[in-house]
Amino acid sequence: MPDDIKPVTTMDLARMKRDGRRIVMLTAYDALFAALLDDAGVDVILVGDSLNTVLCGEPTTLSATLEQMIYHGRIVRRGVSRALVAVDMPFLSYQVSVEDAKLTAGRVLKEAGVEGVKLEGGAPMAPTVAALVEIGIPVMGHLGFTPQSLHALGGYRVQGRGADAVRGLVDDARALEDAGAFSIVLELMPSDAARQVTEAVSIPTIGIGSGPHCDGQVLVLHDMLGLNRGFEPKFLKRYAELADDVQEAVRSYATEVREGRYPDPDHAYEG
Ligand code: KIV
Repeated sequence: MPDDIKPVTTMDLARMKRDGRRIVMLTAYDALFAALLDDAGVDVILVGDSLNTVLCGEPTTLSATLEQMIYHGRIVRRGVSRALVAVDMPFLSYQVSVEDAKLTAGRVLKEAGVEGVKLEGGAPMAPTVAALVEIGIPVMGHLGFTPQSLHALGGYRVQGRGADAVRGLVDDARALEDAGAFSIVLELMPSDAARQVTEAVSIPTIGIGSGPHCDGQVLVLHDMLGLNRGFEPKFLKRYAELADDVQEAVRSYATEVREGRYPDPDHAYEG
């Protein structure tokens, strides 16, 4: 790592909240994209279990495996010098027992070489978070729409509507903070609910589909680059249309190959 690069730590993220500086987080699943994000100054890179849907074409995140998460965590880590890298704990790798969670998270840190793990759930997960923190594993929480509970939540829908639901989210966030989580992803909730949660805790909240009041924002990289054509929720802003660019490039290449125009003399070697 170059001497002048100071890696982002969980302490830096806490300081950013205190100073009112917004945290920039994106997902990445491989070294090439991770290096581009890191060079562009992204603070946190999440190896999300969304890789199971985005990269692998599965209908949900539920079938993501620990081996998959460790593999992608390792190759993302290789591309990164500055950003903090966190890896999602896959479904059923931490919910059954605290012992499972310790082994899963321990393997992620040891084998992928990343700085933290993320797990889904509120107060009921607090003892698990505390046990991980106790053995030195930084944990990011995840509240609101939690994709691993997709079926229990009745589909992909906004959470935290109504005073009772907001109170529940605030209690969950406080339980995660008390357990030692270093930050919390807030997914798919009304802006005011996310504001109340953000104000209730001293650890940073990172929003996705949760409005402007969070301490930072995260998007799935392939969605914000316009690579994932079918996915168009209201919150998603596309910063590029790479699916169009890729197809245009491939069509041009195919035409030039078919017409014998590629390779031309500029792209061929002389004897
Ligand atoms: O899996 C993932 O990419 C995530 C983000 C949406 C926060 O959990």
